[in-house]
Amino acid sequence: MSDTGKPPAGMPGAGKPGAGTPGAGTLDAEMRDAGMPNADKTDPGAPGAGKPGTGKPDAGKPDVAHSDPGKHAPGQVPEPHAAAPCPASFAPDPPPQTATRALRAAMPALQAAGVSDAPRDARRLLAHAMGLAPDRLTLHLSDPLTPDQSAAFQAALAARRRRQPVSQIIGSRSFWGRSFRVTRDTLDPRPETETLIEAALAAPFRQVLDLGLGSGCILLTLLAERPEACGLGTDISPAALAVAQGNAQDLGLGQRARFAVSDWWGGVMGQFDLIVSNPPYIAMSEMAALAPEVRDWEPRLALTPGDDGLSPYREIARGALAHLAPGGRLIVEIGPTQARAVSGYFTEAGLISPRVLQDLDGRDRVVLAHRG
Ligand SMILES: C[S@@+](CC[C@H](N)C(=O)[O-])C[C@H]1O[C@@H](n2cnc3c(N)ncnc32)[C@H](O)[C@@H]1O
Repeated sequence: MSDTGKPPAGMPGAGKPGAGTPGAGTLDAEMRDAGMPNADKTDPGAPGAGKPGTGKPDAGKPDVAHSDPGKHAPGQVPEPHAAAPCPASFAPDPPPQTATRALRAAMPALQAAGVSDAPRDARRLLAHAMGLAPDRLTLHLSDPLTPDQSAAFQAALAARRRRQPVSQIIGSRSFWGRSFRVTRDTLDPRPETETLIEAALAAPFRQVLDLGLGSGCILLTLLAERPEACGLGTDISPAALAVAQGNAQDLGLGQRARFAVSDWWGGVMGQFDLIVSNPPYIAMSEMAALAPEVRDWEPRLALTPGDDGLSPYREIARGALAHLAPGGRLIVEIGPTQARAVSGYFTEAGLISPRVLQDLDGRDRVVLAHRG
């Protein structure tokens, strides 16, 4: 598939999920890191690791527990008394499962469900279930899980086996160093969108408009990075806007951000010195090839406009001149095959100096142009 997919993670061919991610190593490596040279031998939760009270008389041996040792046949050595099995009510509880064993046990089912980087995802889900930052998990690999932690981890694994994205399961995603709440109503912020952020921050601005706000990751990052700026974020989805508003509050940006439900320019008034957008740009014909995490769990509205993927750019170009202040910039994210078409729309609309920028993988990712 040509890469018009938003998602780097989970998209066919886009795949760099977790590559080189710290902490994406094997469990054995993690156990070594955690000072557990051979966790299988040291884990008290290991099956058959000598649990007291569970011993049964060896099969095939006579059960002499209740026989009279004095009545053996001449020359026959009496069997020592075998310990009577404990009644179930007296058997001690099995020791709680450690984080390492929980991770190890999670792997086969995740892999069978087609999860491409099962160790990385299991770690993130377990860290979340244990209430730990992901980079702290290694220090707690030998900790026993509480029943609540265990239940939370199992629920998260079940969701991941249904291919729900990790960010939706844990409810947040890190973007440009900040945490954004993510739900089924918002696109999961993607690392390649940081290319647009970099371009936007390369010149000053005071009034910024974000068309198709989603979680608010673009607008709110720009406001957080430029304390003197104010912004308006719009989206056709009221549910997405509500998430973005919550993120604005959480990041302490509520005073500088306004929000409006709008079909592209429909609800937008005034002029801005910076307009940004990451519109839905996947062609309808490409939807079926998306990974289940994307196709089945992310909002369709955020993925595709339902046509060739270019109609939002035509709309955005049409209204841009009227809403850009003199000298103002328009910056949009694109799919890697769309640079020529989008640059053409911007030029036809009267914008000048269109430029195309590449993401870290060298793919066309951003088009920007100015009002003269
Ligand atoms: C690709 S998502 C981008 C979300 C966010 N800006 C980001 O980069 O993660 C596109 C967003 O555009 C919104 N959208 C789709 N059609 C729209 C329209 N006609 N007018 C305004 N927003 C629209 C979707 O609801 C979605 O939140």
